[in-house]
This record gives sequence, C-alpha cells and structure tokens, in this order.
Amino acid sequence: MSNQLIKKAFVCGWPIEHSRSPIIHSYWLKKYGLDGTYEKIAVAPDHLQAFLNDMNTSGFVGGNFTIPHKENIRFSLFRIDVAAKAIGAVNTVWLENENLIGGNTDWLGFSANMDQWANGWDNPERLKKPAIILGAGGAARGILYALQQRGFEKIILVNRTKSNADKIANEFLGDVSAASLEEISDLPLDISILVNTTSLGMSGKNELPKNLIAYLNQIAKDAIVNDIVYIPLQTELLKVCAKANLKTVDGLGMLLHQAVPGFERWFGMKPEVTQELRDLVLEDIRKTV
Ligand code: ATR
Repeated sequence: MSNQLIKKAFVCGWPIEHSRSPIIHSYWLKKYGLDGTYEKIAVAPDHLQAFLNDMNTSGFVGGNFTIPHKENIRFSLFRIDVAAKAIGAVNTVWLENENLIGGNTDWLGFSANMDQWANGWDNPERLKKPAIILGAGGAARGILYALQQRGFEKIILVNRTKSNADKIANEFLGDVSAASLEEISDLPLDISILVNTTSLGMSGKNELPKNLIAYLNQIAKDAIVNDIVYIPLQTELLKVCAKANLKTVDGLGMLLHQAVPGFERWFGMKPEVTQELRDLVLEDIRKTV
C-alpha cells in the first residue's frame, strides 16, 4: 500500500500528552480495517500558524485542536461552521478543495451522550423547564448551544464570576440569564437539567460549595444532572446527585461522541461508540487517578 493512500489525522495542543483522542481514533481505524493514522502533535501557540500553513503539504486530511488552540485557530481558517461561530471555538478541522475548514463537535458530543444515557431528556414538557449550566467558559458556551439547538427554552448560567456569565447571556439569543454561585439557592427547583462545566469536585480538588450541595438536594427528582468532567468518572457532584436519587450522566460519553463527526470526515465512515471503546478509555483514565 502506497503512503499516499494512508489518510493521516492528528490532535494538536500544547501540551498534548494527556489527550485520549488517539485511543479513540486508533480503536476505530483498527476496528474498521482502515488505512489511516491519528497522532498527537505538540504545537506551541507561536508555531500554530506555521503548522497550519504546512498542513496541506504534510499530508494530513484533518485533525482535532485542543487547549490552548480552540479559540484562536478559528481566525486562521478558510471557513468555520455555524456552530463553531456561535460557540467561538473550533475543535475539528478538515480539508475541502485544499481549503482548511473548521467545525465544533463538542456540542454534538454532549447531545449524543445525553441521547445515549438519558433517553427522553429533551421531551417537549422538559424543554419548557429551566436548564442550568454551571460555568461560563468555552465548554459552557458549547453546552448552551447544544441545549438551544434541542429547544430548551430557558437557560440559566451559574458562575463564580457572574460577569463572565453575563457576557455569554448577552451574546446568545433567547432566554439566557446569569447568576452567581452564591445566588444558586434562589434559583428555580423545578428544572429539567443541570450541567456542570467547571472543575468543581474534580479529582478531589475544588470542593463543592455547601449551598450548591443544598440546592442539588432540593431540585425536582426528575431533573437530570450531567457532569462533563470525566476524571474521575464519578465526580463529587454526580455522587451527591446519585445520593439524592437524581438521574446522573457522566462526561465520558461526550468525549467519545464528539470524536465521531471528525472520524467520519477524515476517514469516510461513521464509527460506532461501543462499550468496548468506553472500557478502553476508562482503563486509561483509571491509570491516571
Ligand atoms: P473550559 O474551556 O473548560 O470551559 P474555562 O474557559 O477555563 O474552561 O472555564 C472554566 C469555568 O469554570 C469558568 O466558568 C470558571 O469560573 P470563572 O469564570 O469564575 O473563572 C469555572 N471555575 C473554575 N474553577 C472553579 C472553582 N474552583 N469554583 C467555581 N468555578 C470554577
């Protein structure tokens, strides 16, 4: 087989050692018997433009970008898709007629994870109830976009620094409001969903504030709680919610599902998120916690 037939893709970040994307894409390449590669590439912010300029000649068909490039890279691309524009971040790129196009698949990963583990999470009656997002960073913007795309009518962003939540609320159309973490006790209890995008309760650091724990214990019992953090898989927040008999969804599926559209673009077939793949990534995560 000549090298020209081998499709090459990458994940690019700085640093990049931690990325689990190669496990996911290598699993699919092997499972479907495709001639392709997916490699980690460490590129410092100062060298990003040079890396992009060389992409065509280096034989890559596309790749993923992660921290710290997700926000900046969009200014260097030929075109970005509607979602990437609204979210303000690009995580997947591909070539179209030698032009580099960027998209965002994080929001699709979130929705697909909810579809898989919380069937009915976007039922018509649930769409009318408020949805709460903890955090106001890049990830929160993706979740907000995903919720609005599914038709959630009222979204409240709750953040340590309220002004950061205000900024997003002002930028997105629709009923999006902001609250500080201190104000969480004043928020509605009959909510449809709560999604954590912060590092609160992650790997034993950043303890959950007491008023947040109290709130989680009072929200409607049919509320669904998702933590997009997956290290550890069962975060403090999910543990508190499970104890309160709430339906919980962990963040690993978002990581797995966000990889699907990129793989399909580069390698030409839609891969399946299997239990075997989940176990493979889980095994790797367990080595680090
Ligand atoms: P990401 O791209 O993953 O969203 P980010 O842009 O750095 O990462 O955003 C992290 C979010 O987590 C922010 O909303 C941050 O709150 P601030 O806007 O106040 O910085 C929130 N966050 C991080 N650490 C936190 C902590 N210990 N307690 C509460 N919120 C925290």
